[in-house]
Amino acid sequence: MTTTGLRDRGDGGTFPYDLSPWQQALRAQFPIITAHPGLTYLDSAATAQKPEAVLHAVHTYLTTANANAGRGTYPWANASTELVERTRAQVKSFLSDPEPDRSTVHFTSGTSEGLRAVARDWLPDLLSDGDEIVVPYADHQANVLPWLEARDLLAARGIRIGVREMPYQTSSGDYDAAALARLVGPRTRFVATTHVHHVYGADMNVHRIRAAVGPDIPICLDAAQSIGHQPVSVAALDVDFAVFSGHKALALPGTGAVWARQTRGPRFTPGGWSGTPNTAGVASLAAALDWLREAGTDRIARWTTALALRLTDGLRHLPAYRILGCQTSLAQDSPVQHRAGIVTFRHRSIGASDLGFILFSHGFMVRTDGHCQGAAGEKTSSVRVSTHVYNTPEEIDRLLAVLGGLE
Ligand SMILES: Cc1ncc(COP(=O)(O)O)c(C=O)c1O
Repeated sequence: MTTTGLRDRGDGGTFPYDLSPWQQALRAQFPIITAHPGLTYLDSAATAQKPEAVLHAVHTYLTTANANAGRGTYPWANASTELVERTRAQVKSFLSDPEPDRSTVHFTSGTSEGLRAVARDWLPDLLSDGDEIVVPYADHQANVLPWLEARDLLAARGIRIGVREMPYQTSSGDYDAAALARLVGPRTRFVATTHVHHVYGADMNVHRIRAAVGPDIPICLDAAQSIGHQPVSVAALDVDFAVFSGHKALALPGTGAVWARQTRGPRFTPGGWSGTPNTAGVASLAAALDWLREAGTDRIARWTTALALRLTDGLRHLPAYRILGCQTSLAQDSPVQHRAGIVTFRHRSIGASDLGFILFSHGFMVRTDGHCQGAAGEKTSSVRVSTHVYNTPEEIDRLLAVLGGLE
C-alpha cells in the first residue's frame, strides 16, 4: 500500500501512507524547507518552521495595519486592537474552551514567561502557610523553576509551603496517577503538569490527573510540546491553565499564551504594566492557528507519531543506541504507541554533541544537550530528534542509514 516505494519498517505496515498527498501539499507550503533540499530539520520541539500563510499574515499586518493595540482610535489602531481580541477568542476555541466567557487569554513570549506569570501573579494568592503544591521535577525546567521561585518568595514573607514531587511511572515515563492520588492531601492546592514530555515524547496522560486529585484542585498544563502537534482540549483534560509557545506552533518567535479558567481559585490577572503587545506576533499566531485547524491536528498527530515509531523501530535494530524514556516495544498496547513525534537517544561511545556535528555533516539538524530538563531529569547529554508535519519517512530512513553507519 505504499505510495512512495518505501519499504515498511517495524511499524507493521501501519504507516499512514494515506496521508502522503495531504502531507506533501502541506510540506510544500514551508519556504525554508523547500529552499533547502539538502537539509533536514528535525528540531521542531525547540521551535517550528513557518508556513507561507503565517509569513504572509505578518507581512500583510505590517504593511496594512501596523499600530499599537489597545490605544488610539484611528483605523490602524482599531484594526490592531481587534486583531488581538479576535486572536484571544481564537485561542479559546482552538483549546476547545467549554466556557469562553469564564476564561482569559494572556499573550506572552512563550511557555516560560507564561508559566512564570501563573506562578507570580496567581499562585501566591491561592496559598496559605502549610499548603502544598505538586511539581513535575523531571519535566522542562520552565515548569519547575517558577513554582520553586513562588515558594521562595512566599517563604520570604513568612508563608511556608510544601513542594511535593509529581510521581512518574518508571516503565513508561508518564505520571503515576495512582501514586499522585495517594500524595494529594487536604492541604494540596495546586498541581503542575505537562501534556507531552519534551525529551521522552511521552504523552503524560494528564486526562488521568483530574480523577486522581479530585474536582477542586487547580491543574496547570504545560502544552508547549502538544500545541500544534495534536488536539489540545482543556475541556477533555479539565485543567485550569493551559500555557503554550506560539513559536512551537508555527507562529513567530516571541509568541505564546496563557489560557486561564476563572472557576477554581483566585482570578488570574497578569500583574504589572505589560506595555505594547507583540501585535505582529499575534497576527502570526492567528494565522498559525487557522492553518493548523485547516491541516487538522489529529492528522498531524498521526503523521508525526508514525515518524517517531519508524525511528524508534529503526534504532531498536541498532544496538549502539539507547532510546531514553519511552520504551522500545512497538506492541499495540505499549505506551510508545501514544508517543508524540519526539525520540531522544544516546550512542554507546559517541558523545551527543559529536553525534550532532556528524549528523549535520549529512544535513540533519537535531538537538544535542540536556534539553533543559528539571532537577530529576537525565544527567548526560543526548540527541533529540523532533518532527513536525513537514518531515517525511524518507528523511527518517536517511537518518537511520547514517546512524547505522556509525554502529
Ligand atoms: C515542555 C516545555 N515546556 C516549556 C518550554 C519552554 O518554552 P519557551 O522556550 O518557548 O518558553 C519548552 C521548550 O522547549 C518545553 O519543551
